Amino acid sequence: MTADPVSGPYRRPTSAAALASDRSARAVPEAAAAEPPRGPWAATVDLKAAFDSFEELWSPRVVARVNDYDIRIAKVAGEHVWHAHSDTDEFFLVLAGTLHITMRDAPGGGERVVILHRGEILVVPRGVEHRPASPAGASILLVEPTGTLSVGDRHDPLPDHVEATTGHALA
Ligand code: NI
Repeated sequence: MTADPVSGPYRRPTSAAALASDRSARAVPEAAAAEPPRGPWAATVDLKAAFDSFEELWSPRVVARVNDYDIRIAKVAGEHVWHAHSDTDEFFLVLAGTLHITMRDAPGGGERVVILHRGEILVVPRGVEHRPASPAGASILLVEPTGTLSVGDRHDPLPDHVEATTGHALA
């Protein structure tokens, strides 16, 4: 029996490039290709321009909503704060740089560090205490329910450089 990387006790980063090449092998139905879903609310967001529009670290911008989930982007460097989201998993995708996520979910409650490089994703399971960090800086994309606090619903004392936010609109 093959191990399921998603439900296993140790979630490993998955290469987005591997997922993309897998997806590109599938044929796009003709009707879907001819008529992409659109509405008066639909607008392209240029992620490069979005990243260029702010400088604040650990201060996510909401770039899209998918049903009741936010797609957020953030510039990060240094350490965030230990925190946990009791009610939701949290999705991370690294777009540039390297992100370290330390989690307290090793056997016996110990800590382990997952290092995510560009193009790698990780889901931190709900309830797991985690501390994102990036010694050299990174640009990341997050997916989590709208209203989710960046510092979770329980956290260590917040240092000055970490704000508690549910995400900011793009300027
Ligand atoms: Ni978190």
